[in-house]
Order: sequence, then C-alpha cells, then structure tokens
Amino acid sequence: MNVKEQFKNIFGYDAGHVYFAPGRVNLIGEHVDYNGGMVLPCALTIGTYGAISLREDDKIRLYSENFKDEGVIHLTLKSNELENGYYDYIIALLALLRKNGYEVAKGFDLYLYGNIPNGSGLSSSASLTVLLGYLLSDLFGFGFSKVDIARLGQACEHYVGVNCGIMDHFASSLGNDNSAIYLNTNTLKYSYVPVDFKDYQLVVANTNKKRKLTDSKYNERRAECDKSLEILKNHFNIETLCDLKVMDLEKVEELLDDDVLFRRVKHAVKENDRVLKFSRALAEGDLESAGKYLTESHESLRKDYEVIGIELDTLVNALLVQEGTIGARMVGAGFGGCAIALVHKDSVSSVTKFASNIYESIIGYAPTFYYVEIGTGVHKIS
Ligand code: GLA
Repeated sequence: MNVKEQFKNIFGYDAGHVYFAPGRVNLIGEHVDYNGGMVLPCALTIGTYGAISLREDDKIRLYSENFKDEGVIHLTLKSNELENGYYDYIIALLALLRKNGYEVAKGFDLYLYGNIPNGSGLSSSASLTVLLGYLLSDLFGFGFSKVDIARLGQACEHYVGVNCGIMDHFASSLGNDNSAIYLNTNTLKYSYVPVDFKDYQLVVANTNKKRKLTDSKYNERRAECDKSLEILKNHFNIETLCDLKVMDLEKVEELLDDDVLFRRVKHAVKENDRVLKFSRALAEGDLESAGKYLTESHESLRKDYEVIGIELDTLVNALLVQEGTIGARMVGAGFGGCAIALVHKDSVSSVTKFASNIYESIIGYAPTFYYVEIGTGVHKIS
C-alpha cells in the first residue's frame, strides 16, 4: 500500500509526512502488566501507517483504509463526543492533550492504513494510539519522550473504556529490531533482550475469533486483581500483586479465602516469575526450557486466570501435539485473538498444516498463521 499516493487520491493533494507505529507480540508475561509484573513483548514489522498534512483551519478529515465503508470522517479540534468508531482514539487524544495544556494549533488531514489483522490481539489499537501521539508531538513540538508516548497511548485506551496496562503501547513506542523489551511495568525500567530462536521459528496463529477488549472480561479480571491487592496490602508490604513471591502464595490463599481471587493472584505471581526464567533460558540458548515456560504460561492462563476459551485452547493443543513444537500459548488479552508457538524450522509446514486441520474440524473455520518479524518502535518514514 502506497500511503502517500492513497492520501492524494482521498484528499486531492500531497501528504506532508508519513509515520509508522508497529503492533506487538508478547513472548511471555501475560495479564501481569496491570499488576506491576515483568513482561517481554517485541514490536513487529506490521503496524499502522499514517500520512498527514496540517491544515490552516481547525478541521480534521480522516480516512482509514481499514474502515473504508465509513468514508471520510469529519471532526474538529474541539470534537469530544465518543462515537464508538476507530476515530474515538483521536477524540480521546485531543481531549487528553487539551486537558494537559498541549495545544494542537491546526487541524489536519490524516490517511490511515494498518496491516495488523483487526481483533487478532496483536495490538492494532495500541499501534494507532502510539502513532497518533507520536505524530502530533512531532508536528506540534510537544517534545514527548517515547515513554511519554506509551503512557499517552494507554491513557487514550482508558479514555475510551479499556482499562489496559502499558505493555502494548510501550512495545509499539520503544520496540527495537531483533530484541524483546524486558520491562518492569511498575517502575517502567526496561532493557533490550536479544531474541534468537536458533533452529526454531516463532509462529503466530490467529484463531480468527473476533473479539473486542471492551467486550471481553478484561476489565473484570483487572477488578478481581485490584480487589485482591486491597485485601493483601493489609498483610504484606506490597505496592502491586507482583511484589509477592511464589513462596508467599500459601499465606495468600489463607488470607483471601476465596478460590477465584486466589487463582487470579497465583497466576500473576507465577507468571511474573516465569518471565525471568524464560528470559534466562532465552539468553542461554536453552530453547527447550523456554518452550516449556510458554506452555506453562498457557496452562496458568487457562486454569487459574480463565481467559482462554475453546478456540485458543483448541489451537494451542493442536500445535502442541505436533512433533517439532516445543511450546505454545495464547497471547494478549485472551478470549480469542492469537497464540504463539515455537516450532522447529524443519517442521513448520507440517505442524501448521495438521494443526489447521484439527482446529478447523473442531471449531468449524480455519486459523491463519503468520511468520512475524521483530521490528522497531514508532518512527517517521518521510
Ligand atoms: C491486552 C492489554 C495489555 C495486557 C494484555 C494481557 O493486550 O492491552 O495491557 O494486559 O492484554 O497481558
């Protein structure tokens, strides 16, 4: 897709600037980023492109290749009613900037194109919010750092009603080629971890079950964690659930005296621990162990955190039973979207073929496989 050409086709003149923000895949550390845990996401080479030109008035015209049916959307710098469209993120961003004293001095025409499959759980919305924050900061000289951009992206999602953590926006903003980000979601301290899967291929498998975070039980899980934290703070010197250690869990179970809340906390604490173990295994080139931690993560998300659903579970199992797969798990929020698997390079085509057949025979439609590459965070293209 030539976004500059498309801009011209839609708006009738040349685009001034083109920007790109990637989607992400999280290797491990799921549902811990709102519990102060460690995560290990990578930015991808797929994401959202934006071609933009500033106007001399306060009007905004938007066109998204992914929502063609909606045609050109007309807003102004003062628009503040959410309308349940992709452009709500722009309305949210403008409202947040106004509130914090940043003046978007001119309107603009913006053409958007994203090549992340919608609803796949590879963070198309994070890439959109990061793209928007970055381009407005760049064009109006706000001087935001990439961490600020990640925070702003997360704030946009909260504004539209998704109480998500910072992981997706952080990855989209600060991603680095061939690396995962080892991020402490409590302190936002991070480092880059080289990713080399050697003889294995990271396979991303889409269940093709459509879901929206706002429809899912995401906010419910978060509330369960917040409730547990409130109780546990009276007994432990902790700021977040992931300040707890695996050895604290026995006491936690007694104190909570509630099976559901306990299982949520158990997942968070053990998953946090697994991120460290996985990262070590990856650094040592011990991919068999890394794969094992992926599968353990999936089991914990299924049994204790309960965010899987039949589609994800069927897909992960269909991948795991094939020779050549050393680990697999769901990624992202859950309830649909994608899974990842580490598959020996020699077996990728047979594993995906047979897993696809099993999945389709049980679920009724086929999954899609992607061979993603790790890419770099948000940047200006021209
Ligand atoms: C979604 C959210 C993230 C994170 C994951 C689960 O992708 O946007 O903040 O909570 O789910 O790990």
